[in-house]
Amino acid sequence: MGATGAVGAEFVRLFESRNFPIEELTLLASSRSVGKTLPYKGRPVVIKEATEASVQGHDIVFFSAGATRSRALAPAALESGALVIDNSSAFRMDPEVPLVVPEVNADALTKEKRLISVPNCTAIILMVAVNPLRALGDIDRLIVSTYQSASGGGAAVMDYLVEDTRAVLQESDRPQKDGLPPYAFNLFSHNTAIGDGGYNEEELKVIEESRKILGDPALKVNVTCVRVPVLRAHTETVTVEFKGLAPSEDQVRTILETAPGVQVIDDRARNHFPTPALASGQGDVLVGRIRADISNPHGISLLIAGDQLLKGAALNAVQIAETYRQKFGN
Ligand SMILES: NC(=O)c1ccc[n+]([C@@H]2O[C@H](COP(=O)([O-])OP(=O)(O)OC[C@H]3O[C@@H](n4cnc5c(N)ncnc54)[C@H](OP(=O)(O)O)[C@@H]3O)[C@@H](O)[C@H]2O)c1
Repeated sequence: MGATGAVGAEFVRLFESRNFPIEELTLLASSRSVGKTLPYKGRPVVIKEATEASVQGHDIVFFSAGATRSRALAPAALESGALVIDNSSAFRMDPEVPLVVPEVNADALTKEKRLISVPNCTAIILMVAVNPLRALGDIDRLIVSTYQSASGGGAAVMDYLVEDTRAVLQESDRPQKDGLPPYAFNLFSHNTAIGDGGYNEEELKVIEESRKILGDPALKVNVTCVRVPVLRAHTETVTVEFKGLAPSEDQVRTILETAPGVQVIDDRARNHFPTPALASGQGDVLVGRIRADISNPHGISLLIAGDQLLKGAALNAVQIAETYRQKFGN
């Protein structure tokens, strides 16, 4: 559900490229998309409207159409016996719902819990890079800054960035979009609502969800989320501070080089490090600029980049389904 969206299109491609064992594929979206088609295995699949009836009767339903739609329709899918994997924020912080990044906390999956949430994209990318370092010792604090792409806001925000860039280059009238600042050749604080403490919703998701995924409610996290004029893949800087431990750069590099879902790109001689362009279209989280924090013996700093439409959303969801089936069958 949400097949016509930025993430939905990735799901369909992944089903094909990973040979996901599908007998029958149903693609759902809003009434606006009814009758459109998307290609799957060389054949067009006609989009149907997402309704209580159309989300029923399937083994697995992937929800990727926003929290409101998940809240409205996930219960019907669950009632019909489906495994429901939800990409939205609707159920992530429900204590009864596993919030899963398979490389990090596959053990949170149980056979009985048939509603599973996919974490926020920024949190997933962060967790894939940070979790392996817990083999060195306990983490005290994460200090994070993000450089998030337009596709994180969905297909419409990508279109806005492209149109605004074209307008600047052609010196024509610039488009406007739902209160967003000018986007071409600009960047801005993440466009989610700011709460009382001055943190926006995206930042609070990263804080709360990281704690839940790592099972560490006391983990200190400070994060600033910023959107940059990049179409695809999020980049983040993170300083990981350990409790009473001063790990060497080499220890960190050695762990990351064999960590699942991580690819180290850290070539100081060539100044070659993770970028959103390198991360786009691939499932690994890229990690580089591995260095000791010059200001704190307990800190290690990293630059990471990940395709948030893939590992931050569709790929993580498909991996959850694959892991669930491996562990428990259908
Ligand atoms: N973009 C990301 O990087 C990212 C990362 C992680 C999680 N997510 C989550 O994934 C979900 C989809 O995000 P997206 O970026 O793919 O958004 P998007 O590009 O805006 O696509 C939204 C999808 O939802 C469908 N939809 C909208 N209103 C609907 C309705 N009333 N009934 C049924 N379907 C409806 C749309 O169908 P129509 O085309 O018919 O309007 C479209 O398929 C969201 O929950 C988002 O929070 C996104």
